[in-house]
Amino acid sequence: MPKPEKHVFICTQSRPPGHPRSSCADQGCNTVYEEFLWQLQNRNLFNKVQITATGCMGPCSEGPNVLVYPEGVMYAKVGKDDVASIYEQHLEQGQPLERLLMTPEFWG
Ligand code: FES
Repeated sequence: MPKPEKHVFICTQSRPPGHPRSSCADQGCNTVYEEFLWQLQNRNLFNKVQITATGCMGPCSEGPNVLVYPEGVMYAKVGKDDVASIYEQHLEQGQPLERLLMTPEFWG
């Protein structure tokens, strides 16, 4: 397997009903995760991009959260409709999307 140029971690953490912390699952992360996988296939980027579902990365209130390495760029409040832009601008052209960047308060 070739080493991926970009590794995308998508938080898919859930928590029990009534838990005091929110979770990315409560905020729709599974739809986002599925869209990342769907677009990976459609764009045939298997040799360039790796997608990994992960547990909590910290800033739960800002979810769904997506972290891209090697840059260490974290995106907040990612929706299904944002995934195509992340592919086109960041994963394929190397330019992170400013409008979705996590604030330094949570990731900086
Ligand atoms: S539950 Fe996703 S960052 Fe905490």
